[in-house]
Amino acid sequence: LDITLVGVPVDCGSAYRGCLMGPDALRVAGLAESLSELGHRVSDAGNLAPDLPGPREHTNPAIHDLGPSAGWVSALSDAAFAASADGPPIFLGGDHLMSAGTVSGVARRAGKRGRPLFVLWLDAHTDFHDLNSTRSGNLHGTPVAYFTGRAGFEAFPPMPAPVAEERVAMLGIRSVDAEEAARIGGTAIAVTDMRAIDEVGIARPLRAFLDRVAAEDGDLHVSFDVDFLDPDIAPAVGTTVPGGATFREAHLVMEMLHDSGRVTSLDIAELNPFLDDRGRTARLVVDLVASLFGKRVMDRPTRAA
Ligand code: ARG
Ligand code: MN
Ligand code: MN
Ligand code: MN
Repeated sequence: LDITLVGVPVDCGSAYRGCLMGPDALRVAGLAESLSELGHRVSDAGNLAPDLPGPREHTNPAIHDLGPSAGWVSALSDAAFAASADGPPIFLGGDHLMSAGTVSGVARRAGKRGRPLFVLWLDAHTDFHDLNSTRSGNLHGTPVAYFTGRAGFEAFPPMPAPVAEERVAMLGIRSVDAEEAARIGGTAIAVTDMRAIDEVGIARPLRAFLDRVAAEDGDLHVSFDVDFLDPDIAPAVGTTVPGGATFREAHLVMEMLHDSGRVTSLDIAELNPFLDDRGRTARLVVDLVASLFGKRVMDRPTRAA
């Protein structure tokens, strides 16, 4: 594959500073080299550095950094549209606000190809607030509501091609605010929380979703928040939540995604190198991304018989 790395050093969507170093940590951990070793052609487009607007007020006083956040969404939509013209782009975040922009761009791309866009959301959180419902005011808690076309985002650029709720699946969920739970309960989004994963395993809901992507011949954007992983194996994230995906579960997800042949774009969100332990989270993330792009434990497909 022709893979393009796009650095997205945004950290105004989070209360924790440091995600702006995420793209460089992923480079230092050997992302490009790992993908090249698998036989892919990798080009690194460097870090985006958009001109961002200044401060802007909102009726919700909790919100911070609204002006620059809206600027990032707009710049990212254009950058993601451009970067997805050929092979798959990997967007190196950056906090999860990035996905409001990346999904906006790849949704336009899918529309241009005449394909439906599906989104797999790997996260401890549903990130389903709008600008009125967020109490933390951290806009990384809003991208899914934005890209599914919900109201409450008048201060953001309009979402050009909203993703249908039926085409969004979430895995790993274990921290949902009351407002989000009420909002997301009424949608068609397939939310698989950690309790469900404990009961039936992670493969079954993922298989069901991938079958739906294949049935509609869809494009698939994967948005990987590092807090999807258990904090014991991935400490470099501000919003850690105990009880996350294990090393084995996360690798299985990536291997199944590779076997599906469906992934057309990827976000790596919320890596905060300031909080890492001698680079081990960055290295784990690189290993997981390599699995998504074809690295195998054994010299055979890992799909179960
Ligand atoms: N729901 C919480 C909030 O709105 C946490 C959001 C965490 N999101 C993330 N992308 N890490 O503040
Ligand atoms: Mn998130
Ligand atoms: Mn999260
Ligand atoms: Mn909240």
